[in-house]
Amino acid sequence: MKRPRSALKKLRILISAGPTQEPLDPVRSLTSGSSGRMGFALAKRAAECGARVILVSGPASLPTPRGVRRIDVVTAREMKAALLKHASSADIIFMTAAVLDWRPRHTSTEKLKRSRNGQWWQLSLVENPDILRALGRHKRPQQILVGFALETTNLLQRARKKLEQKNCDWIVANDITALGASLAKAVLLSQDGRRYHLPKLAKDQLASKILSLVSHR
Ligand code: CTP
Repeated sequence: MKRPRSALKKLRILISAGPTQEPLDPVRSLTSGSSGRMGFALAKRAAECGARVILVSGPASLPTPRGVRRIDVVTAREMKAALLKHASSADIIFMTAAVLDWRPRHTSTEKLKRSRNGQWWQLSLVENPDILRALGRHKRPQQILVGFALETTNLLQRARKKLEQKNCDWIVANDITALGASLAKAVLLSQDGRRYHLPKLAKDQLASKILSLVSHR
């Protein structure tokens, strides 16, 4: 099942990882609990197998794997621009990032004050771009696009819907326990109906299995 090292060597792999962050004011932002571990583990493994890897990472405190070109971004819009710039030359794209779906409608240039005189107040949000959907729209015929789906309920049903709606070749379905954790289990669903259940593993091992399943044509 494993693709030989020499075959992986020819591949250009683009990976997004980590959370994105949307500033609320100069000292606060909205973000998610993603650690970036899965994306970094995929980048490390792919580079070890000889692939040329670009890792577009949101704020994550993880070291850059050896041999990987890392591009740091903060917001969803920055991540989208970096990924679209490199997508056309990628053989495989892994979209592991936990992209924040919304951003504050206004970012204050001044630090927001705590006191609202005891009153509740509202935060207005606007929708962020769906990066994976944009990548799916621009997919080249031989390119393999891999999405990730994190769900609290109806995991497989919702993951399959995302696979179809976002024009992915594969989707990796995780339940919520994977978020920020060092161990995770996953189910891989392919567009042509294959399904692989991967047991609870360290994210390094999980990444290795995902990479060999996805890169095996
Ligand atoms: N994704 C993306 N851009 C977004 C949101 C998500 O590219 N604005 C990508 C994620 O990187 C992941 C996939 O889409 O590969 C599914 O993300 P998920 O958060 O599970 O789903 P959403 O598309 O955000 O849908 P919902 O929030 O309704 O579950």
